[in-house]
Amino acid sequence: MKEQIEALRREALDAIAAAGDLKALEETRVRLLGRKGRLTEILRGISQTPPEDRPVLGQAANAVKADITAAIEARRNALEAQAESERARAEWVDLSLPGRRPPRGHMHVINQVYDEILDIFHELGFQVATGPDVETEYYNFDSLNTPPDHPARDSHDTFFVKPGVVLRTHTSPVQMRVMEKTAPPVAVVVPGRVYRVDYDASHSPMFNQVEGLLVDEGVTFADLKGSLMLFIHRFFGRDTRVRFRPHFFPFTEPSAEVDISCTVCKGQGCRVCKHSGWLEILGCGMVHPNVFAYAKYDYEKYTGYAFGMGVDRIAMLRHAISSIGHLFENDLRFLEQF
Ligand code: PHE
Repeated sequence: MKEQIEALRREALDAIAAAGDLKALEETRVRLLGRKGRLTEILRGISQTPPEDRPVLGQAANAVKADITAAIEARRNALEAQAESERARAEWVDLSLPGRRPPRGHMHVINQVYDEILDIFHELGFQVATGPDVETEYYNFDSLNTPPDHPARDSHDTFFVKPGVVLRTHTSPVQMRVMEKTAPPVAVVVPGRVYRVDYDASHSPMFNQVEGLLVDEGVTFADLKGSLMLFIHRFFGRDTRVRFRPHFFPFTEPSAEVDISCTVCKGQGCRVCKHSGWLEILGCGMVHPNVFAYAKYDYEKYTGYAFGMGVDRIAMLRHAISSIGHLFENDLRFLEQF
């Protein structure tokens, strides 16, 4: 019996030392001290021995139990410290490292230009209106004094969705949509995408316009000129020269195209302005009485002006962008410059 107790001590201390982790240690503890463990077995054995031997054996067994318990406790502390230091090493963070900034986006250059344009007209009392990209031929053409056989329809290179329905070729249909819903006076600017069958370095099948419409009693071409001059001087700078060239649009009469002195060469002549010194930026005119008739506006009482400008072109002039494709190809190396 005595030898058995001594053997258990040696065996137990070896097993505890060999336990590689907390789980193995717990299993060892149960095997040694548990209800069906080795020590319990020995204690039971003691009750079978002659009574005079029992105190000595009992003492020896208790001493072994105390040693085993202490050894397990020591081993547990060591394993816990080891696990802790391993975790600390795995989760180590250098708090002195500089932080990594999350990449921050910004508005697309086209939207920046939209905002600048709309802000200027907002100050002049214009409100923002919008309309659908998929538009009926009625709003895109007919109601704008452009009947089916009108030659101006050809020049628009229209995308057809189905008979009678098109991708709008300009933002002008929103003029009619606004007038149908609003009694004069009206003053609106209309940002929006427009579509034409056209694709080269300066034309894209989808591009952006800002339309303007102002209707009231006594509005004249001088008001149109004044507002557009103010806009151009604000947007392109005070020293920009402006030229109104007679032009034709079915929905305005008289009509004009507006040129500004070249922003690149200041009018000296360069590749951007094709050596003319001038750049065309918008079309405009006095609202045609027939358009007012479609809108059920009294064209004896009211007059108005309208204009439409190409936002992509204006963005390209402002930032010396060589190809319109850059504006929608979403190459970050391009976009991040703005
Ligand atoms: N809608 C015309 C275009 O896209 C521009 C325009 C708008 C002209 C309003 C006159 C009045 O070319």
